[in-house]
Amino acid sequence: MRCPLPPRLALPGLLLLLLLGLRPARPGTGAAARFQPTWESLDARPLPEWYDRAKFGVFIHWGVFSVPSFGSEWFWWYWQNQKIPKYVNFMKDNYPPDFKYEDFGPLFTAKFFNASQWADILQASGAKYIVLTSKHHEGFPLWGSEYSWNWNAVDEGPKRDIVKELEVAVRNRTNLHFGLYYSLFEWFHPLFLEDKSSSFQKQKFPAAKMLPELYELVNKYQPEVLWADGDGGAPASYWNSTDFLAWLYNESPVRDTVVTNDRWGDGCICKHGGYYTCADRYHPGHLLLHKWENCMTIDKFSWGYRREAGITDYLTIEELVKQLVETVAYGGNLLMNIGPTVDGTISAIFEERLRQMGTWLKVNGEAIYETQTWRFQNDTVTPNVWYTSKSKEKLVYAIFLKWPISGQLVLTQPNATAGETEVKLLGHGQPLSWTSLKPNGMMVQLPQLSIHQMPSSWGWALKLTNVI
Ligand SMILES: *[C@@H]1O[C@H](CO)[C@@H](O)[C@H](O)[C@H]1NC(C)=O
Ligand SMILES: *[C@@H]1O[C@H](CO)[C@@H](O)[C@H](O)[C@H]1NC(C)=O
Ligand SMILES: *[C@@H]1O[C@H](CO)[C@@H](O)[C@H](O)[C@H]1NC(C)=O
Ligand SMILES: *[C@@H]1O[C@H](CO)[C@@H](O)[C@H](O)[C@H]1NC(C)=O
Ligand SMILES: *[C@@H]1O[C@H](CO)[C@@H](O)[C@H](O)[C@H]1NC(C)=O
Repeated sequence: MRCPLPPRLALPGLLLLLLLGLRPARPGTGAAARFQPTWESLDARPLPEWYDRAKFGVFIHWGVFSVPSFGSEWFWWYWQNQKIPKYVNFMKDNYPPDFKYEDFGPLFTAKFFNASQWADILQASGAKYIVLTSKHHEGFPLWGSEYSWNWNAVDEGPKRDIVKELEVAVRNRTNLHFGLYYSLFEWFHPLFLEDKSSSFQKQKFPAAKMLPELYELVNKYQPEVLWADGDGGAPASYWNSTDFLAWLYNESPVRDTVVTNDRWGDGCICKHGGYYTCADRYHPGHLLLHKWENCMTIDKFSWGYRREAGITDYLTIEELVKQLVETVAYGGNLLMNIGPTVDGTISAIFEERLRQMGTWLKVNGEAIYETQTWRFQNDTVTPNVWYTSKSKEKLVYAIFLKWPISGQLVLTQPNATAGETEVKLLGHGQPLSWTSLKPNGMMVQLPQLSIHQMPSSWGWALKLTNVI
C-alpha cells in the first residue's frame, strides 16, 4: 500500500516536486527535509524544549476495558488468551456464556463524560501535558477512525469523538500540551495475527491499519506528544516506524513541537526515538545522558479503572510527591496515570490526588518546573532530601520530605558563603538563618510553624541562592 500523502500537498504538487527533484520543503526555512528515515538521523533530533521544562504530565487510560473495569486494562488478553481464573470466573459469574469482548462496546456509554470538566481537573493538577490512550491493545479507537469500521467510539458505544472533545476542551480551557498514546499492535486483529504467523515478513496490518490510522490521528488532532506502545514483538522495520517518524518530524503539522517516546518496535525501547521510557514505572537510579519519563499509575495494580480497588491500592499523595521529586531530581518527567470510569467520570479518589498535586505544585512548582539536575540528586547524609537547580539564576533547590524534629536541616552537598548565600522556604516570606558545617555543607534553621502556618503539606522546598 502507498504511503499516505503529506497533508498539505495535493498529488499534482507532489508530482511536480518529484519531477523537479526536490523534497517537499519546510515552510519558513526553505530547507530540504531535515530528517532521514534512519535511527541515526531521527535520534539526533533535539527534543522540543517545552517537554523538559514541563516535568509533569497526566496519563489517561480509557477504553472498552473500562466497561468491565475489573483486574486490569489487559482484561481481554487475561480472560481469553491467558485464561486466568480470576477473569474467566468474573465473566462466568456476571455475563451470559456466549458474551464476547466486542459486546462490551455498546456498553461503553461515557454517559457523564464532560471534556471541559476533565480539562479543569487536569489543569488544577499542575500538569503541563496530558496523554490520552487514543487506542489501546484492544484496538478500539476513541475517535472515528476511518480504518476501524464499527469498532470505534463514534460508531459504537459513546457515539462521540472522545479525542476531539478532549482536544478542544484542553486547548480551549487550559495551557496544557495535548498528547496521545497509540498502541501499534492489537491483540486479536486478524491481519496482525496473519503477519505474526509469517514472522512479520508480511506487513498487511501496518499497511491497512496502523500506519493510515497514525497519519489520520496526527493530521486530525495534532498531538504534541505521540506516545507509541505495544510493538507486539515486531521490529521497527515491520512497523515502518522510521518512515513515519521522518514524516512526523519533517512534514507533519506538529513537526516543530511534537515529542515522541521510544516504543517504536522491538529493541527500540531505551535506545531509539524521542525521550526514553525504558520500562513502566522506570527509575534509573542515576543520571541519564538522555531525557526520560517515568510513567506510573496512581492505582498500584492497573492503568485502567478497577471497580474492585480499595483505598490501600492507591498511592498516597505523600508517595506521589516523592515520585515526582525523585524523578525530576534525576532529570526525568513524571507521567502520572488515572483511569476514568465507563461513565466518563474521573473518580473522586483520582480527582483528589490530582488536585492535591496541584496544591503542592502551586507552592513548590518553582523547584520543579523548568529546573535542571544538580551536581547531586539527593543528599548523601540526610535521607529524603532531593536537589534540583536553575543554573542561569545560580539557584539550587533542596526539597525535603521529612520535617526534622530538631527544626534543623543538614544539607551535606551545598557549600554556603557568608554574606552571599541566602536561604528561603518556598511559600514562606523571611530568609532563614544557616551555618556552615565543617568540612562541607550547611545547617538550615527551619522556622517554627504551626501546622496551619505550613506553606504546604507532604514536602517542602528550600531555595538556595549563591551556594556552590
Ligand atoms: C461541563 O463542565 C463544565 C465545567 O465544569 C460546566 O461548565 C458545564 O456546565 C458542564 N456541561 C454539562 C453538560 O454538564
Ligand atoms: C472555547 O471557549 C470559549 C469561551 O469559554 C467558548 O465561547 C467557545 O465556544 C469555546 N470553543 C470551543 C470550540 O469549544
Ligand atoms: C514501508 O516501508 C517500505 C520500505 O521503505 C515501503 O516499501 C512500504 O511501502 C512501506 N509501507 C507503508 C504502508 O508505508
Ligand atoms: C542518594 O545518593 C547517594 C550518593 O550519591 C546514593 O548512593 C543513593 O543511592 C541515593 N539515594 C537514592 C534513594 O537515590
Ligand atoms: C565544599 O567545601 C569543601 C570543604 O572546603 C570542599 O572540599 C568541597 O570541594 C567544596 N565543594 C565545592 C563544590 O566547591
